[in-house]
Amino acid sequence: MAKSLPDKFPPAEKSFSLYEDIEYQEYWEEPGLDRLDALEQHLITELLPASGRSIIDLGCGYGRLAPCYVDRFERVVLCDGSLSLLHGARETLGDRAVLVAADVTRLPFKPASFDAVLTIRVLQHIQNLECAFEEAHRILARDGTFVFSYHNKSNPHRVLRYLADRSSGNPFTLESVPVWATLISHHPRRVGALMREAGFSDPEYCGTVVVNALANITDRLGRKSPSGASWAQLMGRLRIAPWLIGQSFSQGGSELAPGDDASEILACPACHGDLSRSDRGFGCSACTRMYPIEDGIFDFRV
Ligand SMILES: C[S@@+](CC[C@H](N)C(=O)[O-])C[C@H]1O[C@@H](n2cnc3c(N)ncnc32)[C@H](O)[C@@H]1O
Repeated sequence: MAKSLPDKFPPAEKSFSLYEDIEYQEYWEEPGLDRLDALEQHLITELLPASGRSIIDLGCGYGRLAPCYVDRFERVVLCDGSLSLLHGARETLGDRAVLVAADVTRLPFKPASFDAVLTIRVLQHIQNLECAFEEAHRILARDGTFVFSYHNKSNPHRVLRYLADRSSGNPFTLESVPVWATLISHHPRRVGALMREAGFSDPEYCGTVVVNALANITDRLGRKSPSGASWAQLMGRLRIAPWLIGQSFSQGGSELAPGDDASEILACPACHGDLSRSDRGFGCSACTRMYPIEDGIFDFRV
């Protein structure tokens, strides 16, 4: 039977392939998730710049969030570790987006290639947060916008569980911890510290998950709440939502790199060397690695 979420981590050297052949779209079709989807899309649309030259959705999946940005940027890049999900994105978006298969901790882009980076529901799968933030900062231009989300280790549900059962993981300590089979939970203070180290401003947060459930309850009580967005601000500011969506800005770095053609912003993910394009794909002039193009998807997984 097709699965809508992964049930175990792949081997460490192939961690980017976690969602290969997973029917992730089916997860969002489950009853009750439409409100969460609408809330996330509403918040992300607000947090991203109204327009810009170049955006990348890191860990884009099948492109669920593309409506939040696809008409607002001149160049749209969708990047994921799963080829099967990128094929799904291709079906939805056609040639409106450049599709790149890569690991979010080893990105095939030159510095300052984007003025916005989005990574939603991805960091819960990433052990090496430092590396993910450094890569996001490296590919962002100066003052570029970074919108991201993660599972909040110190949310009240985790705190109550810990107080009832001390073996359930201490939410007050800063280290990242596994919560379920494939979910790593991060502490907002650690995330803030790593982001500052990587060169980002302190994040501002909105919160989700409990928020949309609260909106469902007020609906049932006869008080319509459009999406739960009003709760989201408060629960994010207090950092008490189970999932936090952050907005931060890149400090330092360079102006957005020029380049009309997408291949001008690509670089070898292994050594950052220059690439030359042929019929078969891209070749690195420094380390001689080859990266194929298959069905229009640039495959930079190493
Ligand atoms: C929960 S899905 C979220 C997809 C999309 N951002 C959304 O919100 O609908 C997580 C995505 O992250 C991708 N992913 C996980 N680890 C990755 C890695 N190391 N490199 C690239 N993609 C990764 C998975 O393939 C999957 O598409």
